[in-house]
Amino acid sequence: MHLPRAWETVTAAATLGVVLGAGAAATPRAANRLQCRATLEQFIETQSEVAIDGVLANIGPDGAEAQGAAAGAVVASPSLVDPDYVYTWTRDAALTYKALVERFIAGDSSLQSKIDDYVSAQAILQGVTNPSGGPDSGGLGEPKFNIDLTAFTGSWGRPQRDGPPLRATALILYADWLVDNGEASKAADTVWPVIAKDLDYTVRYWNETGYDLWEEVSGSSFFTLSASHRALVEGAALASTLDKQCPGCAEWAPAILCFVQDFWVPEGDSGYIDSNINVRDGRTGKDANSILSSIHTFDPASDCTDSTFQPCSSRALANHKAVVDSFRTEYTLNAGISQRDAVAVGRYAEDVYYDGNPWYLTTLAAAEQLYAALYQWNQTGSITVDDVSLPFFTDRVPDVAKGTYASDSATFTSIVDAVHAYADGFVSVVQTYTPADGALAEQYDRNDGTPLSARDLTWSYAAFLTATERREGIVPPGWGETGANTVPDVCEAPAPCDATITFNARVTTTLGEDVFVVGALTELGNWAPADAVPLSADGYTSSDPLWSVTIDLPAARSFAYKYIKKTSGGEVVWESDPNRGFTTPTECDSADTINDTWR
Ligand SMILES: *[C@@H]1O[C@H](CO)[C@@H](O)[C@H](O)[C@H]1NC(C)=O
Ligand SMILES: *[C@@H]1O[C@H](CO)[C@@H](O)[C@H](O)[C@H]1NC(C)=O
Ligand SMILES: *[C@@H]1O[C@H](CO)[C@@H](O)[C@H](O)[C@H]1NC(C)=O
Repeated sequence: MHLPRAWETVTAAATLGVVLGAGAAATPRAANRLQCRATLEQFIETQSEVAIDGVLANIGPDGAEAQGAAAGAVVASPSLVDPDYVYTWTRDAALTYKALVERFIAGDSSLQSKIDDYVSAQAILQGVTNPSGGPDSGGLGEPKFNIDLTAFTGSWGRPQRDGPPLRATALILYADWLVDNGEASKAADTVWPVIAKDLDYTVRYWNETGYDLWEEVSGSSFFTLSASHRALVEGAALASTLDKQCPGCAEWAPAILCFVQDFWVPEGDSGYIDSNINVRDGRTGKDANSILSSIHTFDPASDCTDSTFQPCSSRALANHKAVVDSFRTEYTLNAGISQRDAVAVGRYAEDVYYDGNPWYLTTLAAAEQLYAALYQWNQTGSITVDDVSLPFFTDRVPDVAKGTYASDSATFTSIVDAVHAYADGFVSVVQTYTPADGALAEQYDRNDGTPLSARDLTWSYAAFLTATERREGIVPPGWGETGANTVPDVCEAPAPCDATITFNARVTTTLGEDVFVVGALTELGNWAPADAVPLSADGYTSSDPLWSVTIDLPAARSFAYKYIKKTSGGEVVWESDPNRGFTTPTECDSADTINDTWR
């Protein structure tokens, strides 16, 4: 039998108070809420079992849904068609293992052999040459591999630079635990070598563009950079504990923190995070990318620091409102739900993947940020409402004023109760659209809530575990945020390391037609014909139809590209498939020439 904890009674009473304060239909709604809350508790209890089983089923070699997967390989989903997710993504695996390592540290010792498998599997993957490069030339930025730990060579949005820092974080949590539990030599000899390569990658590439966590936009991603900052901070600390080197970690962490400030977009007295910059993506930038960043860089020991966008910081709360509000009018599912209440949350409003739907993991992330904020307010003993966070708080407690409220004040209690009820609301949305057997797919339909896309998504289950653990007040160890949140006055960046590349394309054209090169690099327009690079016909003759251009591209980069023709009428003609591919030389200031013929 499940006994409610002390705060549940308090929250239920406070919810009643808020509803009564709002006036209309007070008693029936309050009664409903109380009923729903009991159901939510039961849901969380049973669903937590389904979620941990769902995660473990997708991990090789013996997970029930992971046939053919190597030991320690996380299968993203067992779905083989529509979509085929039977691959192991570095990001999904790292976030999943971060959740597992946290559970292990919190007392589930049965997970240790799975964690050791993960360490071994990642050591192998770091050595696999793939379309993003070799072990020392960018290959760690490859987003996904086959589940037998061989390279996936099809076309994809690559590189994705969040994988290495996220994996470093998961492994640093484990290494720190080993150190604290008398196994420092295992941490140094087995885990550190993998971490060191990921940190080296992060130091080397943080200031270059790459694909975001949704694998669609090549630019600078808030999620990737937040993860990079955290990894370098805790990596430098672990290196010093183990008496190892972490070249560049302490030097570049503040530079990354400086750069992430650029993602903040002031709007009136408040603002939000533009999740992708250094790219023209035609979006508002309001994206669950930023909410996931806040929960990933949550440090239980931190104050509500704006510079690191801690869950309870004014900026992260304002951003939470901006992102959640962007979905209120977007989905039929959310129609008629009051501004005060939780809704279904997707990736970003402009999403068209499967026609753009809410996702379980993003809806749960909206809850998790708030549970983490509640933890931080309780730790710090106060809540500050300022210009930036006021709109978020007004939605919860309509008459709240700016000020700092100590934990013994009535306002503190009203805010905590209202935010807790709001956070629970997101879990209730997930409950509503979870089938009876608890299976969590990737998405649920924007119109009727039917589960969609990949079934049994590992990340959906992991997101359920971490959100509900935060709700219980179970938090991960800190990563040193309080010693690493001072923003330098000037943002430094490494000197660019470019190679000069000449594209020579033989393309027979008619008068008025122009030739462009377009591809998977920011410098090549990120596949957008409008941003493609024009070639010159200065060398064109009837016997040698040469179009040419010379541009600087990042050194040591593998990328896909194509040529396009644009007619005088503005029509775009693409070359036939497949994409072309090229790897720039590794030396800075080197040069190379590409010779192609239109096909
Ligand atoms: C590199 O860092 C500088 C300084 O913060 C920043 O202005 C620039 O946009 C960054 N570029 C990329 C691609 O990260
Ligand atoms: C608040 O913090 C105190 C002291 O750390 C702890 O005993 C208490 O359980 C916390 N309350 C909640 C609701 O997290
Ligand atoms: C392209 O042709 C030039 C000579 O015209 C040659 O030097 C260069 O190596 C060729 N590039 C490639 C990638 O084969």
